[in-house]
Amino acid sequence: MKRLRILGCAALLAGAAACSDPAPRTTGIIPAPRETTWLEGSFALPATLRYTTQFEPADAAELETWAAGRFDLHPAAAEAEAQLRLVQDPAVAAEGYRLRVDRRGIEIAAADAAGIFYGMQSLLEMADRFGGRIPAVEIADAPRFAWRGLMFDVSRHFRTKEFVMKQLDLMARHKLNRMHWHLTDAAGWRIAIDRYPELTEIAAWRPYPNWAAWSRGGARYCRRDDPEAHGGFYTKDDIREVVEYARQRHIEVIPEIEMPSHSEEVLAVYPALSCTGEPYTSSDFCVGSEATFEFLENVLDEVIALFPSEYVHIGGDEAPKTHWRTCPKCRERMRREGLKDVDELQSYLVRRIERYLNARGRRLIGWDEILEGGLAPDATVMSWRGVEGGIAAARSGHQAVMTPGSHCYLDHCQDDPSVEPPSAASFVSLADVYGYDPAPDSLGTDVQRMILGVQGNLWCEHVVTDDHFEHMLWPRGLAIAEVGWSDREKMDYDDFHARVLDAVERMRGAGYHPFDQKSAVGSRPESREAVECLSTGKPVTYLTAYNAGYAAAGDATMTDGLRGGWKFGDKRWQGWLNRNVDLVVDLGERQTIAYVGVDFIQAPAAEIYMPGSVELSLSDDNEHFTALATVAVDETLDPRKTAFQTFAWQGEAAGRYVRVTARIDTARGGWLFTDEAIVR
Ligand code: ACM
Ligand code: ZN
Repeated sequence: MKRLRILGCAALLAGAAACSDPAPRTTGIIPAPRETTWLEGSFALPATLRYTTQFEPADAAELETWAAGRFDLHPAAAEAEAQLRLVQDPAVAAEGYRLRVDRRGIEIAAADAAGIFYGMQSLLEMADRFGGRIPAVEIADAPRFAWRGLMFDVSRHFRTKEFVMKQLDLMARHKLNRMHWHLTDAAGWRIAIDRYPELTEIAAWRPYPNWAAWSRGGARYCRRDDPEAHGGFYTKDDIREVVEYARQRHIEVIPEIEMPSHSEEVLAVYPALSCTGEPYTSSDFCVGSEATFEFLENVLDEVIALFPSEYVHIGGDEAPKTHWRTCPKCRERMRREGLKDVDELQSYLVRRIERYLNARGRRLIGWDEILEGGLAPDATVMSWRGVEGGIAAARSGHQAVMTPGSHCYLDHCQDDPSVEPPSAASFVSLADVYGYDPAPDSLGTDVQRMILGVQGNLWCEHVVTDDHFEHMLWPRGLAIAEVGWSDREKMDYDDFHARVLDAVERMRGAGYHPFDQKSAVGSRPESREAVECLSTGKPVTYLTAYNAGYAAAGDATMTDGLRGGWKFGDKRWQGWLNRNVDLVVDLGERQTIAYVGVDFIQAPAAEIYMPGSVELSLSDDNEHFTALATVAVDETLDPRKTAFQTFAWQGEAAGRYVRVTARIDTARGGWLFTDEAIVR
């Protein structure tokens, strides 16, 4: 078979030679394959594909996943009549495959069943793109990382098993292979544990459907049979069904059982496991108490029996550890074990739980706080507060999964926040996710090889409905898939974006509710081009101090010509905590002015609010100011959402010093974030 690369064909066309079947530009496959070589001709996919295989599917259900309803598969009576050959080739990398489509049919070669499955997914992607006739092509492909994950938070708002399985279908199509299931948290315990029925009789239920309202309403639980009860949990059969469904799709499900904190729901029903012994007083288990270990080990026994995963995720994040400092049992544990502080007390718990898991053939993974007080010997770190935790773990010879909030937290907004549905306070676009490299060369090979992979996390405090969940997850989940699978040098955002637009259309056709990527605004329009005006580059005197943590570009920020974007943390917005903004711009000389404007951002999930009003005033001597305007907050802004307002005056006046005074609601407190004082 003569091979024609794309360029070869284009050159032939240019020379007016016969090239009746020009090679397509792209397979459209997400994640982008390693090597693609176009061949001559094409293959018409029949409704029934006769196959031979050196890999036996476990059962009819697994066979079904190979075709995903796109065509029927029937064993070929003889090798010669096979249109699809599934071949064992030990030389292919783990999970990798070689897919060849030519005029005679299709061959997929792999070393393992996952590789065959992924070759089939690539075939299905092309069948979707090209319809019934697939252009002849040879693809050689293998993943960059072993861990390509998505995390689903089902505590804050429960999702049915059917909904979860629907997401697994799309994950499998795009070669994502880990589903991290955040099954327990303050907002609801979601897994049946026979030994502790109160977890699902009470701790899985609350008298509010909506997490935010429940939080504001006191965060209490109710009984399952309460007429107001909202929530839910998975029975053991539900879990088995999801785990098996995932297995058929080469996805490992990793359960997360939170400890020692984020455990208010457990401590509400088993208060003896907290330091205080009282419900609704603590988020942390009492680590001094043996009863805590008895509970956790009993729960883990039942969890292990349900999940065949290599890893069990034990949470470990954000423990306040407050009660541990004074609790007699915790203090006694620290004394006896020679632990110097509460961080080491958490480390004691993690190490002890790790020994328990290791003895049962499982490994422990936890959020990066498990580094504090000393990492357990075999633990793997999931790095979320930036990348530092993962890198520190990797440097000390531990494995790490990278999931930094800045690039992998899919609960943040992905486009114009004033239009998008409620979200966490920051901003992570499709391009932001795509731009993340979990293991850049700058880390060096010793660190790189300890980085297992990447994961997108969908926390659901703000995500109430299933449609909203899919809106947040897709298509950003596709960027996680490509970051996790594709070689860096094969990645190109414009090319990916074009493939994503097609994928989004197909998702919609299949009943998903992805974000409408083709209508994305992109970055905040005001932030795209530098401002040049009377105040640009002029000195600013701060009459109230901005917060050192949100200094942005320091004293230059308000007049540097760069307006803030969608993200309050983009180092263009400057933040004031619990105080008014009061500053003066010195124009250098008396100027006739027609406009003064200053932007504020509201991000209620981060306690950043609009000022009640903004006073704009003018002076010749920097002592006696004349008011230009007092501009009130726009009452039509939804106070629950990220929003932007320009507080502006227009008219005619003259002066040298322009003052901006923004008043915080002192009763509520919180932050004011502002940027760019524009004077024209
Ligand atoms: C986390 O976001 N608290 C892991
Ligand atoms: Zn205690």
